[in-house]
Amino acid sequence: MTVAQALARAQERLATAGCDSPRVDAEILLAHVLGRSRSALLADARLEVGNEAVRRLDELVARRAAREPLAYVLGEWGFRRLTLNVDRRVLVPRPETEVVVERCLALLRGVERPRVLDVGTGSGAIALAIADEHPGARVLGIDASAEALEAAGSNVGRTGVHVELRRHDLFAGLPDGPWDLVASNPPYVSPAEIDTLLPEVRDWEPREALVGAGATEAIARGALRVLRPGGALVLEVADGDAARVAELLRGLGYEQVTVTLDLAGRDRVVDGMTTSAD
Ligand SMILES: C[S@@+](CC[C@H](N)C(=O)[O-])C[C@H]1O[C@@H](n2cnc3c(N)ncnc32)[C@H](O)[C@@H]1O
Repeated sequence: MTVAQALARAQERLATAGCDSPRVDAEILLAHVLGRSRSALLADARLEVGNEAVRRLDELVARRAAREPLAYVLGEWGFRRLTLNVDRRVLVPRPETEVVVERCLALLRGVERPRVLDVGTGSGAIALAIADEHPGARVLGIDASAEALEAAGSNVGRTGVHVELRRHDLFAGLPDGPWDLVASNPPYVSPAEIDTLLPEVRDWEPREALVGAGATEAIARGALRVLRPGGALVLEVADGDAARVAELLRGLGYEQVTVTLDLAGRDRVVDGMTTSAD
């Protein structure tokens, strides 16, 4: 079977299963199996794909056709400059979360050795990306899930970027600071919304990473007690919830509350500063 034939077969299976982008997924999976880039693969569409590679592709396509997220099927996913291990223990890092990191880095500019707390670290995406891109940063990632922390630990090993990890329930209050910055992509899906989500999210991603009533409010209140004066809180919020969260922060006394758009133009990141000492 040639690359072109293998791709056509995989694409058809994925399309029948209702996957959003069957052609791209087929290309990514075959490139993964053959250990080549997608562009190299497409440049060589008449290349013969061996029996073992076809068997391996079939296995991965079957998983994806069951609507397992592409990131879990591949076992890794890109986030900022890093490639992270991802599996069912953790949420797949999203593009909008890269904007959270962007905003954190902007707020930390000029702070030489900032202390940063990432609440609900999951794969460690936010914590690791901040430590990677701000070499002076000392970052602690906390999560209530021991399994998520194992996955985050594997990413510390994989990336060689140092962050500290700790099991901690955010509803017990946030770890003592003083922190220069608290970042979080908390669970923010309401239980009623779960059934409206794509099967990839609804049936595969950890429920505790998605649903967590009151987490945003608890973090916003908790951060006030552990941020240094003039420290920053950066939160990812649900689509359509930015105005409410911005109002919540202002009501709690945060200043310079700012809403940042993601790459799709949706307002998904809200931040604010505690009153500075001077
Ligand atoms: C939306 S995921 C974010 C994961 C990662 N930070 C990212 O952006 O890809 C939320 C994370 O919060 C964790 N979490 C949920 N409830 C928590 C709690 N009460 N205390 C601490 N972490 C919690 C989940 O285990 C999950 O890893």
